[in-house]
Amino acid sequence: FRVDWNVEQAEKNGYDHFMLKEIHEQPEALKKTLAGRVDQATKRVQFEELQWSLERVEQWDKITIIACGTAYHAGLIGKHVIEELTRTPVDVEVASEFRYRRPIIDEKTLVIVISQSGETADTLAALRQSQHLGANVLAITNVVGSSIAREADEVILTMAGPEIAVASTKAYTTQVLVFYLLGIYLADLKQKITKDYRIQLLEAVLDIPNKMEELLEYSEALQRYSESIKDASSVFFIGRSLDHAVVLEGSLKLKEISYIHSEAYAAGELKHGTLALIEEGTPIIALITQKEVNEKMLGNIKEVKARGGHVLGVSMKENMEMLEYVDEGCYIPDSLSLVTPLLTVIPLQLISYYTSLALGNDVDKPRNLAKSVTVE
Ligand code: G6P
Repeated sequence: FRVDWNVEQAEKNGYDHFMLKEIHEQPEALKKTLAGRVDQATKRVQFEELQWSLERVEQWDKITIIACGTAYHAGLIGKHVIEELTRTPVDVEVASEFRYRRPIIDEKTLVIVISQSGETADTLAALRQSQHLGANVLAITNVVGSSIAREADEVILTMAGPEIAVASTKAYTTQVLVFYLLGIYLADLKQKITKDYRIQLLEAVLDIPNKMEELLEYSEALQRYSESIKDASSVFFIGRSLDHAVVLEGSLKLKEISYIHSEAYAAGELKHGTLALIEEGTPIIALITQKEVNEKMLGNIKEVKARGGHVLGVSMKENMEMLEYVDEGCYIPDSLSLVTPLLTVIPLQLISYYTSLALGNDVDKPRNLAKSVTVE
């Protein structure tokens, strides 16, 4: 008699890998992160953990977001959202760069550090340096009682639950979600958005978990696509505006666990270099969800197709026109352009997962990488 069971398998809850389990946990993780933070009666965002008055918020003339890796990519979305909704200037910096220069930070800066683990050495050092320079530090982290949670002036917890796979998925989407809530919260406090727009945005955000569920049901086509790129020597990701921030994350994910060389480009930059690398059959993954640059993106796709590139386009269902331009299409449910990152990242996570799987790699524990980098 042999018991074919172990603790690790039980923790994977029927999934082959922690990464796949965590990808599928995202709708639930988002719901937990939203819980208690939206007042249904007034349709306002509430953060009990922030005792911010209008006077306090107006002391800050800029915001600096600091993080590493995937958390840095969440910060890029945060910049776009906060600037768009509040018109406050936002910088985003990699912690290991920030800490070794003379940053322009003082008591008029709100510093936001993002860290899933709350233990990343460079991010912790950046937090301390910012406080030393007089800034107020808000931490967005997933771990209660972590060093970053303990030392920050204020903390917003993401409720992603434990993330085991080295490649971050649900931590990223919950961090991005916090930025939507924070953006709406600040814009409301500073009276920068109308009530109608605030409600429209909040409804779009609250609807994301359901749309994610819908999206997660269709992974077979992505699995087939992943088989087709597994032997590529390079994969390129392109996008503009918010889509650019998302492709940076998609490309990092693919590199981390498939070990395929990949680059993410702001599509308008292709002609300044990367276009020279496109050959017959080069896989290109293009995100096309930002309406104001839709035509520009379609133009960029024509450019890569003319050089033989094989394009997978990812867009909203309403953009049927895309299919005339790409080789393969992947659709996300229609949504407000501002919140599409929480949807487009799902197929990108699944592509990296299935590509790694097809290559026989250790999906959850990729070579040379650690879940938490607590040393320099
Ligand atoms: C490591 C992990 C990444 C993560 C980064 C920052 O490199 O492998 O997935 O994004 O650290 O981690 P943090 O815990 O600070 O978010």
